[in-house]
Amino acid sequence: MCGITAYVGSDDAVDNLLTTLTNLEYRGYDSAGVALLDGSDLDVRKREGETDRLKEAVSEHPPSGPIGIGHTRWSTHGPPSDANAHPHTDCHGRVAVVHNGIIENYETLRDDLRARGHEFTSDTDSEVVPHLISERLAAGSDPETAFRESIAQLEGSYAIAAVIRGEDAVFATRSGSPLVVGLGETANYLASDVPAFLEFTDRVIHLDDGDFAVVRPDDVRLTDVDGHAVHRAPDTVEWTDGDADKSGYNHYMHKEIHEQPVALRQTVRGRTDPTGDGVVFEEFPPGSFDDVREVVFVACGTSYHAALYGQAMLRRRGVPATAALASEFATEPHPVDEGTLVVAVTQSGETADTLAAMRAVADTPARTLAVTNVVGSTAAREADDALFIRAGPEIGVAATKTFSSQVATLGLLAERLRLDNDPDATPDEAFLDGLQAIPEALESILGDHHAERVANAYGAKESYFFIGRGVGFPVSLEGALKFKEITYEHAEGFAAGELKHGPLALVTDNSVVTAVFTGQNDEKTLHNVREVQSRGAPVVAIAPESATEVRRAADETIEIPDAHPELSGLLSNVVLQLFSYHAAELRGRPIDKPRNLAKSVTVE
Ligand code: F6R
Repeated sequence: MCGITAYVGSDDAVDNLLTTLTNLEYRGYDSAGVALLDGSDLDVRKREGETDRLKEAVSEHPPSGPIGIGHTRWSTHGPPSDANAHPHTDCHGRVAVVHNGIIENYETLRDDLRARGHEFTSDTDSEVVPHLISERLAAGSDPETAFRESIAQLEGSYAIAAVIRGEDAVFATRSGSPLVVGLGETANYLASDVPAFLEFTDRVIHLDDGDFAVVRPDDVRLTDVDGHAVHRAPDTVEWTDGDADKSGYNHYMHKEIHEQPVALRQTVRGRTDPTGDGVVFEEFPPGSFDDVREVVFVACGTSYHAALYGQAMLRRRGVPATAALASEFATEPHPVDEGTLVVAVTQSGETADTLAAMRAVADTPARTLAVTNVVGSTAAREADDALFIRAGPEIGVAATKTFSSQVATLGLLAERLRLDNDPDATPDEAFLDGLQAIPEALESILGDHHAERVANAYGAKESYFFIGRGVGFPVSLEGALKFKEITYEHAEGFAAGELKHGPLALVTDNSVVTAVFTGQNDEKTLHNVREVQSRGAPVVAIAPESATEVRRAADETIEIPDAHPELSGLLSNVVLQLFSYHAAELRGRPIDKPRNLAKSVTVE
């Protein structure tokens, strides 16, 4: 949510900033802006809309200077507009600031600043920051101290970068919102996420909350809020530049759907040992979870659906498990004790609701584990332990490949927990072999155009329902989320058996019901299909090849290869991703940038 970038080097910063901002557009696209510093000149340009509008606006007379900051916005305070776009400046145009997060005490700060003669030009919470810095400079503080003194007045969550006329540096800090430094050969960078500058460097320093950075062309200095030096070792990111481009696809989402066989191979590689330890996690030798008596998942959106899938896999293995919505858990936490493993499932590792849920149990004896895609993310660092899903960077706002890698990781974790809890248990070879077989099965689904044909055939309905049972239930919820998110059509997911308890009233011949079959309890779901058909709605089934009964009953069947029944939902889910993708394409929707949304939701 909101992307921040900065360039500090010897070349003109503007091209670099426009590139890194484009790379970060998945974090927000309501407006974009840059501030370029050239000695004593500070040039700020900003525009409502996507980065392309900013590029057009600066193309004739680009701002120049070797130091700059940039911002792409997802609005929280004030609607998208030129005035509310970042960077924001003080009254004298001496300081420019970009901010991601929410400053909770901004009204008090703004009232006080106004009373002292400051004038404001936007509705944002962020605009108080340059005015505060300006005041500290006027009071005689040196720029670095002025920055730290100003930040110390803020309450809330923030990643902030600032430039000050006459200073050859970017001043930055974070608290609750992500910020990473990129170390280049001839320049240094700052960004909310690594993919912003991955084409320029893979050497990074992940800042911690409370860190302050002064980034110069040939030096990066870190301190705490009192100015004491802080040391953080640089990391080398394993992702490559090619991971973060579209590689010939029209949309990141389509590319990432097609990357799933590769992503899943990476997730599972080296982690299964069906005739030995069962599951091999480098980080967790056998026995690491032998004191876990129950698992509580906390997660949001797609990750919550992966957690529901994980809950089913654990319960089938006799391990009590509950998936909780992180936003609810944060304010109404479940009772936990030393036998509870609280698993935060979060692709980005930066989702504010999920971090709040983790923090809600921080002072309890429960153990926390982050299951995440991003090494160095806040969740990975705040949890007691981290398990990485290894899906590679995901740029499309709609999560796709990370859902698959999350489910595969949670399946492995479920198996590890079962083995750790029962010294006599032996590995479930069928499940582990089944997991290894999923990438190949996915390849055959990705080469098939049936989902596209069905999306076209049922393109003009009023409502889209998705039903399933067992692991087909979270897949139905996920299918509906993906469909509404990128097509903007009314879509809902239900447990198949629940439909007759109310939602059936919505089903008419102007709806289409997609039913997910997994090879388990299919006959019950077939009853539900018939209930729907007798209300006039066509049914599209997604079913294993061997499910001949289903083929006979449904109006249309998209076949998936036969797979381990616990894993067949991974295959159906990819069919649903393709169904949503093509339905959105048919409607001409901005698939990678759905309205009102952004990847990495860093506000509660
Ligand atoms: C939907 C989607 C969101 C995220 C949710 C949690 O396609 O991407 O629902 O799943 O915002 O994000 P993470 O997994 O980063 O915590």
